[in-house]
Amino acid sequence: MIWDLPTRLFHWSFVICIIGAFLTGREGNLFWHEIFGLAALGLFIFRIIWGFVGHASARFANFVVGPRHIWQYLTDLRHRRDDPYPGHNPLGALSVLALLALMGTLGLTGLWTGDDILYEGPLTFLAPNWAGVAGRWHILLQQLILPLVGLHLAALLAHHFFLRERLVRRMITGGKDDTAAKPTRTRLGLALLAICVGGALSLATLTPNY
Ligand code: HEM
Ligand code: HEM
Repeated sequence: MIWDLPTRLFHWSFVICIIGAFLTGREGNLFWHEIFGLAALGLFIFRIIWGFVGHASARFANFVVGPRHIWQYLTDLRHRRDDPYPGHNPLGALSVLALLALMGTLGLTGLWTGDDILYEGPLTFLAPNWAGVAGRWHILLQQLILPLVGLHLAALLAHHFFLRERLVRRMITGGKDDTAAKPTRTRLGLALLAICVGGALSLATLTPNY
């Protein structure tokens, strides 16, 4: 198996939470925005930890590579039909890191973001001076969501049509890789995921008067 259950569960929950946070943020529905945003933050924290202790394909050390590998991947591309990388390819790894960095920063800055009217972020009381800067970055960076997600989806379409790689099916079923070790820490991963999301959601109790 390529993608273990915790990684797949992370991905599809992340998709739901980011879409939810994006739509509710743009609508100004801050009750649901906070819930989706905090859940996304919990998922992000899970994915960072899982990137060090998780199944082989989820570990950063196994897919984050330097420019030489990326160049090699690009020059080898025409031989790769029907033979997808057993995990993120060197170029795709860049987009994974960019997506995680953007969403993680939005989740973290959100903790200090207010609407200047009724709503104050759950951690504003801890460092009130930081709230103005965090809020400005939150509003600025959210403009990158559509371009980055658009690029992610365009890359998947390119894999589907030009390289004939079924990456989406693989992210749903886990995919097959007989050479890879079987995932062994599934239960640990699921528990960690629940703890991270639960812990992040519990921050909502710190939000004043909302
Ligand atoms: C808000 C929208 C989305 C976000 C933020 C997002 C984010 C991500 C992230 C962070 C990863 C890396 C997964 C990991 O290593 O844990 C990933 C991979 C992936 N995503 Fe998404 N995703 C989004 C939408 C979608 C959609 C709509 C699809 C399918 C139609 C999709 C299909 C995939 C696939 C197939 C991979 C694995 C690519 C590979 O084999 O290297 N994503 N996505
Ligand atoms: C990955 C998670 C998050 C995403 C993708 C996200 C995205 C967004 C978006 C798209 C907006 C609308 C900006 C605009 O149109 O002006 C917004 C606004 C806002 N977000 Fe988030 N957000 C996230 C997490 C959070 C969290 C965790 C909180 C608080 C706990 C938060 C608090 C706010 C507030 C208060 C606003 C309104 C700011 C204003 O009206 O000036 N966000 N966010």
